[in-house]
Amino acid sequence: MRRHSHSIPGFSFIHDFAITPHYCIFFQNPVNFNPLPFLLGIRGAGECVEFQPGKPTRVVLIPRDPKNKEVKIFEVDSGFVFHHANAFEKENQVCIDSIAYASLPQVQADANYKEADFDKLDPGKLWRFTLNLQDGTVERKLVEPCCCEFPTIHPDRVGRDYRYLFMGAAHQDTGRNAPLQAILKLDWETGEKQSHSFAPHGYVSEPIFVPRQGGKQEDEGWVLTLVYDGKNHRSTLAILDAQNIEGDAVALLHLKHHIPYGLHGSWTDSVF
Ligand SMILES: [Fe+2]
Repeated sequence: MRRHSHSIPGFSFIHDFAITPHYCIFFQNPVNFNPLPFLLGIRGAGECVEFQPGKPTRVVLIPRDPKNKEVKIFEVDSGFVFHHANAFEKENQVCIDSIAYASLPQVQADANYKEADFDKLDPGKLWRFTLNLQDGTVERKLVEPCCCEFPTIHPDRVGRDYRYLFMGAAHQDTGRNAPLQAILKLDWETGEKQSHSFAPHGYVSEPIFVPRQGGKQEDEGWVLTLVYDGKNHRSTLAILDAQNIEGDAVALLHLKHHIPYGLHGSWTDSVF
């Protein structure tokens, strides 16, 4: 195990990070934190986080080699990022693929979550950020304008250039905020997209990619996701063929009850 620490100026609200052979990559989102109301017991911690529109996100590259103390910081207009799909190095560039929101909704203590106005919340969209290590510039490109979240890839491709990405997405691409009802597969090489929708009553959770043992292709395997069936108030574990996302599910394992709608899932090949 290797341990080292680096100090970064300013407040950070970090949810996720990305990794490449030489760097750990953190997005320092433009937020302020005033802990006083929280310490006085007037507000929750989340209510004290304030998004700073118009301020850049700082992309912090920390070398993985403990002898290298040179932290690189890039500035880019990204809005707010919770999750990264992947990152990789390419000659003098580092690419990071992330789900970015134009803003972070302010948490209101007295707001009724059942009356959320989805049109007032910015949708998450997939962007590619390309950092130029030579001149310090950042290029950002909108890759998927459809409302999406929870990107996942083949575990062996983490930190490396990769071809396929799977994520939860809205049933239709309206560019607006909408619940995640489909699994979307992106092919970086051909630009081809495939989706499997569970609308109108199914709501997906984070997809998990399970590689086929001994598989030769990057997308050889299955995509698992828990689907909440709003009509019957129960959950289904859907297993899709990752090479044919659009096709019929390989299996739909219906539960007799629902599993409370969560955020993340994980795959293990052990049985407990
Ligand atoms: Fe998360």
